[in-house]
Amino acid sequence: MGGGLRPRCRALFPGLQPRDAGREVRCRGAVSPLLAGPGCRGRAGLCRGRAEGVEDRPAGPPQARPVAGRGAATCAGRLSGAEIVMRALVLGASGGIGAALVARLQAQGAEVTGLSRSRDGLDLTRADTVADHAARLEGQAFDLILNTTGALVIDGHGPEKSMDAVDPQAMAAQFALNAIGPALAIRHFAPLLARDRRAVMASLSARVGSIGDNDLGGWVSYRAAKAAQNQIIRTAAIEYRRRNRHAILVALHPGTVETPLTAKYAARYPTIPPDRSAEALLAVIDGLTPEDTGSFWDWKGARVPW
Ligand SMILES: NC(=O)c1ccc[n+]([C@@H]2O[C@H](COP(=O)([O-])OP(=O)(O)OC[C@H]3O[C@@H](n4cnc5c(N)ncnc54)[C@H](OP(=O)(O)O)[C@@H]3O)[C@@H](O)[C@H]2O)c1
Repeated sequence: MGGGLRPRCRALFPGLQPRDAGREVRCRGAVSPLLAGPGCRGRAGLCRGRAEGVEDRPAGPPQARPVAGRGAATCAGRLSGAEIVMRALVLGASGGIGAALVARLQAQGAEVTGLSRSRDGLDLTRADTVADHAARLEGQAFDLILNTTGALVIDGHGPEKSMDAVDPQAMAAQFALNAIGPALAIRHFAPLLARDRRAVMASLSARVGSIGDNDLGGWVSYRAAKAAQNQIIRTAAIEYRRRNRHAILVALHPGTVETPLTAKYAARYPTIPPDRSAEALLAVIDGLTPEDTGSFWDWKGARVPW
């Protein structure tokens, strides 16, 4: 980027949608013909600003003209390789799916903040750590917040095969992480969603948390905690319709993914690698509109019944 210069770009960026107006964009590639104000001159990476208008007209040759005042420039024409700068926050960045999402988002050019329990001390069962980490990010506006934390086995307690195996402490631990944890994540991090453009907060639930889809039984504590998470997301989404009309809050099922979480349990099921899950989840997220807030989706883009 050119020495802190931030030209105002009004451009037809390939791939930029009307809904992206207001997002920060970074131009890469063929911007060298741009000769308007300081900061919109030169090569890749020198043009960076906000998408203030997304014009629906044919691409012309790259051109730019100066705009009065403070060296701002208006860029018109097709700036090949320009990309939207997406600001993303991933909670649970150390996990199998979380790390894959971080890598995918970074590969797409997003600015990613990753937080985890093992590296940063963000423990979703400790409200103080959730509040502290959110407070450190105050003032940031994220396009995407992903909660990828969770566990199937906690303190040696795995999923129950029968109601006879229900243990109150193990069940409480499931609720603390897989239900109350996401509630705290929404409480403290959802206020960091951008308020002037589409912004998504998605939490990894699990299809086994679906009551409507439960034909197998078993795994009562994990299922029940994920079902509770689903209700929490639905409830928070209704509140957020009033608090931030651009916010979309959803629950996602990532598929049966080859991570430490499934290592002992997925043998009988077809699995997918974390990167495939991450790619698919980001595609599902990309297609969400504000009307979808409070819903539950699987990695293939199909609605999951509550
Ligand atoms: N893998 C699947 O097939 C599958 C299927 C359905 C749903 N899911 C859901 O997807 C999510 C991610 O699963 P995964 O497969 O990526 O699991 P994973 O590889 O075991 O990663 C779990 C992540 O959760 C974090 N975590 C665990 N306890 C935490 C706590 N108390 N506070 C904060 N973070 C905590 C871990 O952090 P540290 O390692 O830093 O401690 C790690 O980042 C989970 O919610 C899981 O239920 C997974």
